[in-house]
Amino acid sequence: MNSKVVLVTGAAKRIGASIVRTFHANGYRVLIHARSSKNEAIALRSELNKIQKNSAGTVYADFDSHIETQKLSIAALDHFGRIDVLINNASMFYPSPLLEASPDDWSNLFNSNVKAAFFLSQALTPELKKRKGSIINIVDAHVDKPLRNHALYNMAKSALKSMTKTLSLEMAPHVRVNGISPGAILWPEALEQESNDKINQQKAEILDSIPMNRIGSAEDISNLAYFFAEKGQYITGQVIKVDGGRALG
Ligand SMILES: NC(=O)c1ccc[n+]([C@@H]2O[C@H](COP(=O)([O-])OP(=O)(O)OC[C@H]3O[C@@H](n4cnc5c(N)ncnc54)[C@H](OP(=O)(O)O)[C@@H]3O)[C@@H](O)[C@H]2O)c1
Repeated sequence: MNSKVVLVTGAAKRIGASIVRTFHANGYRVLIHARSSKNEAIALRSELNKIQKNSAGTVYADFDSHIETQKLSIAALDHFGRIDVLINNASMFYPSPLLEASPDDWSNLFNSNVKAAFFLSQALTPELKKRKGSIINIVDAHVDKPLRNHALYNMAKSALKSMTKTLSLEMAPHVRVNGISPGAILWPEALEQESNDKINQQKAEILDSIPMNRIGSAEDISNLAYFFAEKGQYITGQVIKVDGGRALG
């Protein structure tokens, strides 16, 4: 098989898994990266390999370890012998109020949201250049309208947005680098599982702030990722919001 290969980080479930499914449905071979969700990653791999033999693989790394991140790039390239698209989707998301945030919080939020994306991009540059491939970074619409009490997350995602633009210059004309800034797409897992008055009110307030009056779907993100990879051949250095118009006011 000579079909193209995409590596998606944090891809065992939720938006990452949707990105994997979209690329796979369009003929890509897929590399599903996971840290702790190994069972979900293996289940997704089996599901996709049943559809097309040897079309999906799993790779593992905890981005808190630089050595694991570097080993991931080697294992990923080794798996199918090529990588055409890198999608930096993995992320930690939790509050870090100024007076409570610790150096560990700094490391957790920066390692997962931007450090790994930078060093994976660095390690895979020769391969992506060879394939005339692309990088897609999953940012956050809150970068331009900060989320209260989430300074470290906002800062890490802002760095990822800046990295997208900087690397798009550095890697042109061989590799295109773009980003997607989701608005409210899937409730955080903690909110998804709970339902009480406070949480329901929080969700209602978020819905009220979205002109399209609904949260997005994982496919809203994965379809744009696929567009960037395959259709937007003259687009680089762009970070597009997918937020139902929420940023408008
Ligand atoms: N959900 C939304 O509505 C929303 C809104 C704005 C932006 N976004 C962005 O869209 C992307 C996907 O969102 P999501 O909600 O689907 O993400 P998520 O479920 O919060 O996280 C995706 C994966 O990131 C991986 N991850 C976290 N820390 C890691 C680390 N240190 N090393 C390796 N992997 C790590 C986890 O893998 P394991 O489970 O294997 O540990 C996790 O499953 C993220 O970049 C997020 O910031 C999402």
